[in-house]
Amino acid sequence: MTFPAVRMRRMRRDAFSRALMRETVLTVSDLIMVAFVVDGEGVRQPVSSMPGVDRLSIDELVKLGAECVELGIPALALFPSVDASAKTEDAREAWNPDGLFQRAARELKRRFPELGLIGDVALDPYTTHGQDGLIDADGYVMNEPTVEALIKMSVAQAEAGFDFVAPSDMMDGRIGAIREALEDAGHIHTRILSYSAKYASSFYGPFRDAVGSAANLGKGNKHTYQMDVGNSDEALREVELDLAEGADAVMVKPGLPYLDILRRVKDTFGAPTFVYQVSGEYAMIKAAAQNGWVDEKAVVLESLMSMKRAGADAILTYFALDVARWLKT
Ligand code: PBG
Repeated sequence: MTFPAVRMRRMRRDAFSRALMRETVLTVSDLIMVAFVVDGEGVRQPVSSMPGVDRLSIDELVKLGAECVELGIPALALFPSVDASAKTEDAREAWNPDGLFQRAARELKRRFPELGLIGDVALDPYTTHGQDGLIDADGYVMNEPTVEALIKMSVAQAEAGFDFVAPSDMMDGRIGAIREALEDAGHIHTRILSYSAKYASSFYGPFRDAVGSAANLGKGNKHTYQMDVGNSDEALREVELDLAEGADAVMVKPGLPYLDILRRVKDTFGAPTFVYQVSGEYAMIKAAAQNGWVDEKAVVLESLMSMKRAGADAILTYFALDVARWLKT
């Protein structure tokens, strides 16, 4: 059967039939808000490369948490921006039970027990060199010593009340090691969201400004642990290992440039699969919108819809509050 019996445009003619045949919908339950916490009180520090995103002190973060709850956003992913004076070669501030990150979690959990809280597990906000792990004399990130540090960090986060620990470091074997340590410490309900397919991407620049690791990293890069941009099969191997080691959910990162990876991961494993619309994706949309070159709302909704269509169960995005508001109206 061909034209004119088949007219693809017939179903597109009216809003009602477009609605009926729409395969993918975006809802507030798909969203995970992302925020940065800093020390102090009443602090909202703009991140210059991310217009509209501020580093927030805990009291301001509480206001953001209230907005998430109010709008029905299921979870908040938190990152620390620690003072330069707290950064060391061994990143020990990362597992300080009274450190900024742990205090923030305790306060958020006390106020909003129903809001899922996701803690970032990686050493870059805490190291003087800006790498995600501990380095040897040549600057190489050492796997096992880093995993030991990540274990301490994960247990400290679970203790503080994080519902998810989310290792974003790409060390080998860390998911199994963290799972075992959480079980041993009695945190059997603490979930692990593994950044399984995390690429050595140039889209992370604004984030590195936000957590203050950019200057420390300098001309350094993360190519010895994050994945090569040209690879796809390797992502499946990473996801397979992380699931076998006990990851509860896996992540593909960045988002829009990696939709092919997202689809393969979802099709292959059928596991809860999250995607991260990263800082560079945010910055590009904001910059173009501020110039009047694209319609911000339309472009954001289209980007997130594409991620869902490609298989994402949830999306980490700096736009989550805006999107939740747009979806309401
Ligand atoms: C590092 C980390 C990064 C992001 C999340 N965790 C940056 C990096 O790997 O250098 C990037 C998130 C974003 O760009 O929004 N552990």
